[in-house]
Amino acid sequence: MDFQLSEEQKMIRQAARDFAQTALLPGVIERDETQHFPRELIQKMGELGFLGMMVDPKYGGSGLDTLSYVLTMEELSKVDASASVIVSVNNSLVCWGIEAFGTEAQKEQYLTRLSTGESLGAFCLSEPEAGSDATSQKTTALDKGDHYLLNGTKNWITNGNAADTYLVIAQTHPEKNHHGINVLIVEKGMQGFEVGPKENKLGIRGSDTHSLIFNDVKVPKENRIGEDGFGFKFAMKTLAGGRIGIAAQALGIAAGAYELSKKYARERKAFGTEICNHQAIAFKLADMHTQIAAARHLVYKAACDKDQGRSYDLSSAMAKLYASQVAMDTTVEAVQIHGGNGFVKDYHVERLMRDAKITQIYEGTSEIQKIVISRSILKE
Ligand code: CAA
Repeated sequence: MDFQLSEEQKMIRQAARDFAQTALLPGVIERDETQHFPRELIQKMGELGFLGMMVDPKYGGSGLDTLSYVLTMEELSKVDASASVIVSVNNSLVCWGIEAFGTEAQKEQYLTRLSTGESLGAFCLSEPEAGSDATSQKTTALDKGDHYLLNGTKNWITNGNAADTYLVIAQTHPEKNHHGINVLIVEKGMQGFEVGPKENKLGIRGSDTHSLIFNDVKVPKENRIGEDGFGFKFAMKTLAGGRIGIAAQALGIAAGAYELSKKYARERKAFGTEICNHQAIAFKLADMHTQIAAARHLVYKAACDKDQGRSYDLSSAMAKLYASQVAMDTTVEAVQIHGGNGFVKDYHVERLMRDAKITQIYEGTSEIQKIVISRSILKE
């Protein structure tokens, strides 16, 4: 597969790199420490076109391909994975879901604001008792004629408080199991919709993760996406693309940790020479470089599959499984290379190590990716 980037893709990557260095890097340690959601950066990311990257320009988006989105995710994640998960959820799960399956009226009403950063989106599938087992939705959306009556609780929702537009998956016809599930567009401010407490997390601490509570929320029928009962398929199709974004996030975290480690190893001296001259360190860098190159291949391949109209369920699961393992392995080694300095916050690698872990958990754990991969290869 040829990953020669076009001039436009190179420019987009450079713009993301510049933004990460000038806007994300200053303050990233403090945002992590204080769990500060970077609301002040959202508008800027909207202006740069990072929030609706693949959305048609007629709805305010940048009209770019998935590979450009992946390049952006990679660069932002090298510096701040809390900022990049906001970008990922808004692009892959919310904008893409509405653009691919929404009505013209839904696209006109929601996409421009989501693409420009005027509003943010959240994808609400997980529940206290339905994480990996996504068919077991307990949240209900009862059909009341002209509206649905929504009741239940969602957990671990990214952009949970910051969002204004929520795609909520809920069960309408329990007797039909997953064929009875719907997806509804819920707006902040609808009566009976409450944002629960913020989670105190190990990593991506600058992102905004909350539970959501729905208590007799009346959601107009026209806010349903797709046909009655389309909600579970909507979630699966949307997550297949979302996994490309999270795989790119994992790749960026790994690459960020590697770049910091290479620089450190060239500067830090021990036993009379720079530590990169010791094979114990040089071999770690060689492993990191090789694993990151392999992960990059898988991630770009999944993006190209999507861009070129091929099935990407398998390639996105493989990319996420492998890149998230590389993110974990690489960041642990990065802390080791930095020694005592790696264990303190100023050198960034301990944060990258904490951030890496979530890439093995959200949008399907590594075990879920193995289910998707094994089912796919065994039915060939
Ligand atoms: N595209 C279209 N349809 C799909 C599909 C896909 N990629 N994957 C599954 N389906 C369909 C199947 O064809 C099947 O349809 P039929 O019954 O009509 O034939 C239906 O969905 C059910 O599929 P399965 O029998 O395979 O379902 P399952 O119960 O065995 O579960 C699973 C499959 C892969 C384990 C799935 O439940 C899953 O992906 N779970 C993980 C959920 C997840 O990723 N949660 C993350 C939360 S979101 C998040 O993290 C966002 C955030 O804030 C960052």
